[in-house]
Amino acid sequence: MVAVGACAPVKAEQPTQPGEVAAPQVILNGYRRYNSACNHCHGPDGVGSTFAPSLIEQPLPFARFEQIVRDGSVTGTSVMRGFGDDPNVSPYLRDIYAYLEARVTGAVGRGRPTPAP
Ligand code: HEC
Repeated sequence: MVAVGACAPVKAEQPTQPGEVAAPQVILNGYRRYNSACNHCHGPDGVGSTFAPSLIEQPLPFARFEQIVRDGSVTGTSVMRGFGDDPNVSPYLRDIYAYLEARVTGAVGRGRPTPAP
């Protein structure tokens, strides 16, 4: 593995390690992706709706999150389609997860996250 300098530009594709707060750009991208694809069901800022569960109350491990969002989830009449072939979602699952994780920890509040200068 190649060591990356502290000043290296942050790429959205870099996975955030557990326990680490993702870079502001990653979280902001996750917020934007969440708002384009998820918020009409899961509510503003991940809080849930009458139709779909909150995504910030009982956070899932990334592997489970990834599986559900790629393949979808069906429980009786409660159905979410998979986003595995959606080019606006599938490449950005880490970013969306990082955003939701930041909501869970309180690193990011409601509304649009502000990237650090
Ligand atoms: C059309 C509405 C709809 C959209 C859009 C949608 N979901 Fe869902 N989602 C649901 C429903 C309904 C469930 C519950 C499915 C079940 O009960 O099995 C669910 C479940 C989930 C779960 C599992 C929650 C848990 O605690 O078990 C995750 C994670 C999730 N969605 C993430 C996302 C993400 C990320 C997006 C955007 C890329 C998204 N969803 C878009 C309706 C939606």
